[in-house]
Formats: sequence, structure tokens, C-alpha cells
Amino acid sequence: KEWIIVTKIKINVDQPQGRINRNIYGHFSEHLGRCIYEGVYVGTDSQIPNTRGIRNDVVEALRILKVPVLRWPGGCFADEYHWKDGIGPKEERPTMINTHWGGVTENNHFGTHEFFDFCELIGAEPYICGNVGSGTVQEMSEWVEYITFDGESPMANLRRKHGREKPWKLKYFGVGNENWGCGGNMRAEYYADLYRRYQTYVRQYGNNKIYKIAGGANSWDFNWTEVLMREAHWLMDGLSLHYYTVPGSWGSKGSSVDFDEEEWFATLEKALLMDELITKHSTIMDRYDPEKRVGLVIDEWGTWYDVLPGTEPGFLYQQNTLRDALVAGIHLNIFHTHSDRVYMANLAQLVNVLQAVILTDKEKMILTPTYHVLRMFNVHQDAELLPFELETEDYVCKGDTIPAVSGSASKDSEGTVHISLCNLNPNKDISVRCELRGTTQRDVTGEILTAPQMNAHNDFDKPDVVVPTEFTGAEVVDGVLHLTLPAKSVVVLAVK
Ligand code: AHR
Repeated sequence: KEWIIVTKIKINVDQPQGRINRNIYGHFSEHLGRCIYEGVYVGTDSQIPNTRGIRNDVVEALRILKVPVLRWPGGCFADEYHWKDGIGPKEERPTMINTHWGGVTENNHFGTHEFFDFCELIGAEPYICGNVGSGTVQEMSEWVEYITFDGESPMANLRRKHGREKPWKLKYFGVGNENWGCGGNMRAEYYADLYRRYQTYVRQYGNNKIYKIAGGANSWDFNWTEVLMREAHWLMDGLSLHYYTVPGSWGSKGSSVDFDEEEWFATLEKALLMDELITKHSTIMDRYDPEKRVGLVIDEWGTWYDVLPGTEPGFLYQQNTLRDALVAGIHLNIFHTHSDRVYMANLAQLVNVLQAVILTDKEKMILTPTYHVLRMFNVHQDAELLPFELETEDYVCKGDTIPAVSGSASKDSEGTVHISLCNLNPNKDISVRCELRGTTQRDVTGEILTAPQMNAHNDFDKPDVVVPTEFTGAEVVDGVLHLTLPAKSVVVLAVK
């Protein structure tokens, strides 16, 4: 093992730069594979302890995570979903085929009422994605009326008939999903016009103010952002962006659990691209919206590998290792740094799909390394971002280089400074010298997530292989924080 690389950091504690929106810690749950059914909803007859059909263990874990906002019902599923099929007595609800995800039969037992119930149980704001691809303007408009209208109206009365007297609060509404692809294969110009039309009928009833999110670009499609901003920026509150970290190619993405250092490196290198992506999309947005009124909503992000062997290809079930923990840490640090534009981000997906924070197997539930990173980092939610100057060594693999350390810092409402650091290098401990300017705070505590193997992960028979432990290796001397960041680790420090 090599040592003695000094990474230099300067944090100006007395120069806060604006709030880190807690919505950056949002999640995404689609009717896909075992995310909603099994992962969240097991039905009231299940032997698995549940509240009105919703798993108690999952609810408890998500409450601890402090999930601020939850996006639903898709994804690609959203543009095929007809919400009226998901209300009323369960045995009378029609079924449909989930064509995108395994062609399975969807029984619609988890619908609008169940989604709001789930959000209330975990304390998250609901974010609904409406159907533009195969739905009508009327259908979208009526959904909003059903959910949010308090007076006498056909949809409000229908809601009452199904047992909900008072409207719900709905803050976030997305007008379609990936309309350049599974949401209709549209051109940007065509979707921009449809966005203008559909959003007109997403009404603001009473004091329910909806934050309208236009369907945004796929990764590097800057033209989409350009056209949407040019044609409709004044009619939107947020514009979305989707980017997945895929170590290989879409045809051969790579295994979630059997990988070498080259794949580890490629994965982290691709995760780091999120920074460039945000900068470039933001620069386009700045031209039409210099005040940064329109939020960038990265409502799908995370790793996407080949499915675990033997599982249904359409269910997108993958394992989650220490590598995913690093990917999560890198993304969150990047989102913090761009918190002047990034209003929300939603990790894909909540349970049993892609970079999930929770995996379930019948009555068993485990927390993934990604879960632990999001829990460790949630101290940054709604805290003030602090200027963070980082000078770090490169991590070199087969001649390619990336920065060895990723980090960010914030100050919470009680004045505690939180610093989150990731050591991307799986082979080297890194010595860090961090100047804390504009403060005399020096009591430091911390938590670390690491493991001996790059592909260490939790499984149903070994759920605690990768879990956070106390980190005692940091101290502040004369305004300088010193620590050694172990190889392939994520560390979060609190300085009081
Ligand atoms: O998260 C899985 C899928 O990825 C979503 O349904 C879609 O929006 C994206 O392509």
C-alpha cells in the first residue's frame, strides 16, 4: 500500500454560498420489476408486516433516510399509465400490460391513494409524473383535479367516493418522461409545443401551488435543453435531466458485482461526468434564465449494470457494492456544488431496481452501501453550501486519470460544519490537510464507509458487510483539519 499523497482543501466557513436544497436527496419509484410490488407494496393480506399493504420495514428505513421527495409512477411506465385504472375497489381495477418492463400484468393495486399514503408514511413530498406519450390533456388535467381540488367537481367527488374527503397537497408534477424516447420518440420542438399545451391544464387549485417540471434531456442532448428553454422556459419551474452511470456500453453494461479495477475506474470516471453535464446544461439555461429561476431537476441518476444472472432482464435487478457507495458520494458532492441550479435529484430507483437503497427478498430486507451514503450525507439537507477549494492527486488506472478525492462542505442551522469526502483510489490512503477558514470550531467527529474489497456488498445472509462505522482519524490543530482518508472510502465529518 502506498501513502503520503497530500490533498489540500480550503473551506471558507464564514462565506456561505446558498442553500443545498434537500430535494437533491430525492428518490424515484417506478412500476418496474419488484420496486413497487414486493419492494414497497405487499397488500394487506401479506404475512410481511405492513400498514394498509405497505411494508413496515421499508417505511422505517426510509424515514431514517429522510427522503424529501418521491417521484412516481415512472419512468417509461408513466407515459403508459392511466391513473383512473388505479383508483376504487382493488378487485374492480382493470389490469394492463407493463410493456416496458418484462411484459408483466399490472393489477393497478398500487395507485394514487396508495402512493399518497406511502409518501405520508415516509414523510416525503409526492412528485407525480403525468402521461404525455399516450395520455390526453383531459386525463392529465383531471388527475390534478382529483388530487388537489377541494370544492364540488366531478373529479373531487370521485375522490370522495373512493374514501378521501380532503384533497392532498401536490407540490411537484412532471409533464411526461423521456419524451425523446420511451415517452413518445418526439423531437424537441414537438415536445416543447406539447409541454406548453399540457401544462396549461395542470391547474393550481386553491392554495396548492404546483411546481411544473418539463421533461428534459437525455445526458448529452444539449439541443433538447436549448429548444425547451427557448420555447417554454417561462411556463416551467423545473426542467429535468437524466443521466445514468454505465461502466460499459448499453449492450454490455458490466456486472454489478464481478468487476476489476478497470471497471471500478471506468464507473467512477463516468459518475464524475455529471459535473460537466450540469455545467453545460446550466450554461444553456443561463442564457434564457440568468436569474436561475428554473431548477434543473435530475430526476433519474445512478448506476445501471447488467441484471443479476438468472433474474428477469426487464426487472433491472442489480447488486450494490462499495463502488455504488462511491458513485453516490461523488454525485451528491457534485449536486451540492451546483446547488444554485440543481433544485432536485432523484436516485433511480428506490427498492430492488438499479442503484437501489433497499433490496428485499420476501420478508427479508437489506440496506445497500448506497443507502448508508445517503444517510451519512443527509446532514447536508437544507444546509448552507460552503466554498470548497480542492487540490488533489490524480488516481491513475491504465494511463487514464481522474481526481482521487471528491468532496463538499456545508454548515447547518446550528453552525455545525459537515464535510463529505470520497477517496476514489482503491489502492492508496490519502492524507488530507484542510484549512478551516473563518471559524474556531475544532471538535470533530465522523463516520466512514469502506470495506476490504472493491465489490464488497450486503446480501440477505450477510446484511452487514458494508456498514458505516465511527471515524476517529481526524483532528483540528490550529485551524487545520488533518486526516487520512482510507483507500476506497466515503467519510462524513462534523466539526463543531
Ligand atoms: O429507471 C429506468 C428507466 O430509465 C426509466 O423508466 C426511464 O425513464 C429511463 O430510461
